[in-house]
Amino acid sequence: MNTIYITRRETFNAAHKLWQEEWSEEKNWEVFGKCSNKNWHGHNFHLFVTVKGIPDENTGFVMNLKTLSQILKDKVIEPLDHKNLNLDVPFFKGKMASTENLAIAIWDEIYDVIAKNGGELAKIKLVETENNYVDYYGGKEPF
Ligand code: NI
Repeated sequence: MNTIYITRRETFNAAHKLWQEEWSEEKNWEVFGKCSNKNWHGHNFHLFVTVKGIPDENTGFVMNLKTLSQILKDKVIEPLDHKNLNLDVPFFKGKMASTENLAIAIWDEIYDVIAKNGGELAKIKLVETENNYVDYYGGKEPF
């Protein structure tokens, strides 16, 4: 089968703070460093959403990237962009605002709606800084 992977990239920026209430200020600093700053700080996130499938006979597409882009705008960018991840995002309430947890939450937000539009979500890559990013495959091993 000619399974192929297509990826749409989107960007957003958001504020957060990594902070464990039960720990002292010193321990929070030790574990989370600058991300524990009391008065928040921001990141420019880059999100890569990969869908897999077989190219359609008529379009040659696995999924129309315009449709995927619109789904990401509605379900991810709109709720997250220029927001505080700890306070403003209904689907992320009560979670430690790490990049890992955010990637999982984004997956859970978009998996079904992508499926309804004929795509199969395969991977989310979420880049927090130039040097740090996470890959998530829905909790499965990638290959
Ligand atoms: Ni941070």
